[in-house]
Amino acid sequence: MDTDHAPARGDRPAPHPQQTAPNAPAAPEDLLPADVAEQFGTAGSQTAYLNTATYGLPPLEAHEAVVRAERDRATGRLDLDAMDAAVSGSRAAFARLLGLTPDRVAVGSQASQLVGLVAAALPDGAEVVAAEGDFTSLLFPLLAQEQRGVHVRLVPLPELAASVRPSTDLVAVSAVQSSDGAVAALDEIAAAAAANGARTLVDATQAAGWLPLAADRVDLLVCGGYKWLLAPRGTCFLAGTAEALAELPPLGAGWYAGAEIWDSVYGGPLRLASDARRLDLAPVWPAWAGQAPALEFLAEVGVEAIHRHDLALAARFRSGLGLPAGDSAIVSLPLPPGSAERLARAGVVAAERAGRMRFSFHLSTTPDDVDRAVEAIASVDGAGDALGAATADR
Ligand SMILES: Cc1ncc(COP(=O)(O)O)c(C=O)c1O
Repeated sequence: MDTDHAPARGDRPAPHPQQTAPNAPAAPEDLLPADVAEQFGTAGSQTAYLNTATYGLPPLEAHEAVVRAERDRATGRLDLDAMDAAVSGSRAAFARLLGLTPDRVAVGSQASQLVGLVAAALPDGAEVVAAEGDFTSLLFPLLAQEQRGVHVRLVPLPELAASVRPSTDLVAVSAVQSSDGAVAALDEIAAAAAANGARTLVDATQAAGWLPLAADRVDLLVCGGYKWLLAPRGTCFLAGTAEALAELPPLGAGWYAGAEIWDSVYGGPLRLASDARRLDLAPVWPAWAGQAPALEFLAEVGVEAIHRHDLALAARFRSGLGLPAGDSAIVSLPLPPGSAERLARAGVVAAERAGRMRFSFHLSTTPDDVDRAVEAIASVDGAGDALGAATADR
């Protein structure tokens, strides 16, 4: 959990306890100061960007850093020391976000690749329990091991903790589901895993950056940076306990995983770093150039303040549509066919996922964006009936 540094932009006493109670409506005073949203390219535009769950918008400074790195590359002046500093700065900032030390964080470029290391370390015949419908970058690397006798049991998310048995080796779950924003009961899941001698693997790609997370509760955690951490595609983190990390095979290790990076570029013997860096993949340079300032920006605002802001906007959206409050920055609605086009025409950017429309609320989102989306949805034929039926089903 991010408690180390004093936030500047969102700096004020928390009006609520740190974990907002599920279904408690968030108050308008929970919103961040307007100058936060002004740091994004959508400021003052007619676009209501409600799609961070697909990809996050960069704060202007982070965008500039990426453009600068590309301009430097185009002119043969890319500063590789600065790229290394962007990776190590990002590693340290991500560690702080989770309340860990940087030696427990490895870097890569994709969630599936880092999950693949965890999957490869499972013994033949291991049992994995995971949530059905979870994102495939978490599930596929595990399912791909079934050919050597690993058994993956897929169960409904709410039943995950109760499904852990003494025979279970690993419980794998997204902290927040990509498809509908459901927030996993991580405390319960971690407790069930510990009670049964199983490890936990949490995918925080849809959570870190808005949901306060204490990584000390989990054994391993994977997190892509291109959504709520506001990086370009191409940054990913793997964090964990020293014991769990030490068991992972350095399958993708190359020069960047060496004990001394620039002394590890040629020849044997194998000389990998002794900490989590032994699992590092060589960096996608421009992506890390953008990740470092984006993480600084997030730390400056503070994850607690972002949590309140994102939930306040989600609450405004839900209440505007006559829906009960929720506990996620992602809201998924069963809107009629044609809604995506209607929303796009109104300048509302959202995503069609799992046969529904998915809306996500983050730092660049303003109350006006939310109101524009509510109005656009209200103008879709049949939307009221579809939402009414969904509410009645709950
Ligand atoms: C939960 C989750 N994990 C991972 C990813 C991305 O995975 P990858 O980095 O393998 O593309 C996504 C993208 O939507 C996601 O929602």
